[in-house]
Amino acid sequence: MPRLSRSAVAAAAAVALALGQASAAGGPAAGDAARGERVFQRCYACHSVDPDETADLQGPSLFRILGRPAAAKSGFAYSDAMRKRAAGGLVWDTATLDAYVADPESVVPGTLMSSSPVPSAEDRADLIAYLSRSGAFQD
Ligand code: HEC
Repeated sequence: MPRLSRSAVAAAAAVALALGQASAAGGPAAGDAARGERVFQRCYACHSVDPDETADLQGPSLFRILGRPAAAKSGFAYSDAMRKRAAGGLVWDTATLDAYVADPESVVPGTLMSSSPVPSAEDRADLIAYLSRSGAFQD
């Protein structure tokens, strides 16, 4: 049996927990990551999910975004609006990601993110499934 590292197991458990909590709370259903990779093309101009990304993109890396507190990527120049929401305890879980992607201004009024909203709940669920593939945030 292949041995998984402790952190990989913890990350998988955290994602399972995050997804489980969302469905228990009546949140978005678990989506299809393969479809989500296509939906990510809407984000791709400004974000990557590569931990070693070197391109100077307009948005912060979304590597292990699930469970990550807002504005936590060191070295990225977040807006004051995002820092304020982060200070208020905003964490990116399936529910907050879903709401932010549907309407960025509704979650972070004054956010710098000027992407077009993703109106379909199914597309958003698939997108979040794709994003969760890189694992969950760990300190
Ligand atoms: C036009 C460029 C652009 C596009 C397209 C875009 N974003 Fe962003 N995104 C940004 C910027 C800039 C920020 C920082 C916002 C701020 O500081 O207010 C951001 C922030 C975020 C954050 C918060 C990250 C953190 O570290 O707190 C998430 C999550 C996010 N974007 C997800 C997405 C997703 C998912 C998509 C695709 C549906 C997307 N974005 C499309 C530019 C973009």
